Amino acid sequence: MFSFLNKDQVTGEVAEQALDESKIPAHIAIIMDGNGRWAQQRHLPRIAGHKQGMNTVKTVAKAASHLGVKVLTLYAFSTENWKRPTAEVNYLMKLPVDFFSTFVPDLVKNNIRVKVMGYTDQLPASTQQAVHQAIADTAHCTGMVLNFALNYGGRAEIVTAVHGLAQQVKNGELEPDDIDDELISDRLMTADLDELRDPDLLIRTSGELRLSNFMLWQVAYSEFVFTEQHWPDFDQTSLESAIYEYQQRHRRFGGLAPKKS
Ligand code: FPP
Repeated sequence: MFSFLNKDQVTGEVAEQALDESKIPAHIAIIMDGNGRWAQQRHLPRIAGHKQGMNTVKTVAKAASHLGVKVLTLYAFSTENWKRPTAEVNYLMKLPVDFFSTFVPDLVKNNIRVKVMGYTDQLPASTQQAVHQAIADTAHCTGMVLNFALNYGGRAEIVTAVHGLAQQVKNGELEPDDIDDELISDRLMTADLDELRDPDLLIRTSGELRLSNFMLWQVAYSEFVFTEQHWPDFDQTSLESAIYEYQQRHRRFGGLAPKKS
C-alpha cells in the first residue's frame, strides 16, 4: 500500500494532526530524491542541491531521533550513481567528509550511532576514512542508528548473499534446503540491525514512484509514502506527515485484518 502526499498535505492539516507516540515506525528508510531539480528551479548548479540535501539530512536525523525512530536508513549513493558526471560524483564523495567533520558532535549529543551499508571499499580513501571515523566516534551511542546506504545496490546485495550461500553449499557446510528467509536476511547488509532490519516505512521524495534498486528484499512488507517535495525542502513537518500517513495504514503482513467485535 502506498500513497502520495502533495505539497498541501505536507504543509497543511495532516501535519497538524497529533502523532500516536505508540505507533512511531521503528525503521524508516528514505530515498532522498530531487536535489538536482531543487537546484535547477533556483538556477543553481546541481551540487548546490546536494549541499542543501546534506543539511536536510542533519535536520531529519535529529527530528527522527527525537520522535523515537530506532533506525533511519538514507540512500546517499547507489551503485548506479557512478554513471553521473565525474565532477558531481566527486562532490557526492566529498559530502560525507563535510557532513561528519561538522556533525559528529551533534550526533553524539543526540546519542545517534552511525552505520554504513554498501560496497565501501570502492569509495575514495578520504570518504572511507571519514565514514570509519564517524562509526568509531559514535560507536558508544545507544540511541537511533543513522544508517547511510553508500555505494549500495539492492540487487548487488542479494547477489553477494547468494554467492556466500552457494559457496557454503559447495563446501558441504550447508544443505540447499536450509536456505530460508531468515538465512538470506542474515546475509544482507542490514543483518546487524537484528529485529529492526526491515523498514516499517519507506519514503521517497520528489514525486518519482519507483524503488531504484533500494533495499529490495527488506521492503517486502514496508508501507510506502511518496511525496512531491524535493529532498532539500523536506523537514520535520514533512517527516511527521509521512509518519501520520503511516499511522493510518493497517499492516497485515499477508494475513487478514483483525475481526471487529
Ligand atoms: C538524488 O537527487 C540524490 C542523490 C543521488 C544524492 C543524495 C545525497 C544527499 C542528499 C546528501 C547526502 C549526505 C551525506 C551526508 C552522505 P538527484 O540528484 O537525482 O535529483 P534529481 O532527480 O532532481 O536530479
